[in-house]
Amino acid sequence: MVRRVRAFGPASIANAVAGFDVLGFALDEPGDVVICSLSEKAGIRIAPMTGAFQDLPTDPDKNTAGVAVQSLLKKHGIVQGIEIEIQKGVPIMGGMGSSASSASAALVAVNELLELKCTKMDLLPFILDSERAATGVPHADNAAPSLLGGFNLIQSLEPLQVLALDIPPNIFCSVVHPHMYIKTRDAREILPHSIPMAVATKQMGHIAGFIAGMQTGDLDIIKRSLVDELAEPHRSKLIPGYWEVKQATEEAGALGCGISGSGPSMFALSQSEEIAKQVALSMQKAFSVAGLKSDLYISGISKLGARILD
Ligand code: HSE
Repeated sequence: MVRRVRAFGPASIANAVAGFDVLGFALDEPGDVVICSLSEKAGIRIAPMTGAFQDLPTDPDKNTAGVAVQSLLKKHGIVQGIEIEIQKGVPIMGGMGSSASSASAALVAVNELLELKCTKMDLLPFILDSERAATGVPHADNAAPSLLGGFNLIQSLEPLQVLALDIPPNIFCSVVHPHMYIKTRDAREILPHSIPMAVATKQMGHIAGFIAGMQTGDLDIIKRSLVDELAEPHRSKLIPGYWEVKQATEEAGALGCGISGSGPSMFALSQSEEIAKQVALSMQKAFSVAGLKSDLYISGISKLGARILD
């Protein structure tokens, strides 16, 4: 049995504009690296975070990697002590699925470390336990892509059914993370509890169109389907310069743009890496005009998800 496993869990973009709580995709980068080691001491211990973002609890009941691993061990009746080190590459409270990145990498690592032979679908419910602990709601639109990779449709949570969408070639994502925080809990609280039937009907058209566009590779359909009538009207108010950033992506030639997860990061999809770079720069400039410094990421859509590094 090996005593130490290192794994990577990618960032992910939940909602993907058209599919609030039901669409999400994995990025090639950034991501979290999690190292899990066997320990002689009972229980789960988490070392202070390292990496670009470090302000997270080490209490295993409050850290999503710790919650997910404890949930996995409990289900399997395992009492083995485990030490967890997390090198955070995904911004915290940035809307890029940071909690799922750590949890997915930790689960994949522990699965390997203890030779549990769980499939990724077997592991998914344990990330949902950690998402529930972090936000109060077990949404899977970060958890599924970070673990499984690809562009996912969460068709149902109970029973858990996740579909992998086709990904047209050469689609690239620009993500710009402004230097501010939004808690997912807060971003959910400002949403209305009910919506008019007319709004629901329009949004059904957008998500159905988006999926049709993905499955046929028709970029025109994708472009006109990247519309969010549910969260954007409310959450855009939390992000300084939101509409200017969005306008900048249109002018730079993106297919569409919206809030990444619950924000404050914003993302855009483009039909080439070159356009995605220009789009990201224009987003960064617009954020700067709104008084916010930011980091940018250009990434493909990762088909890999969480994986063992060594
Ligand atoms: N779908 C969730 C939300 C994702 O938008 O609240 C949170 O990252």
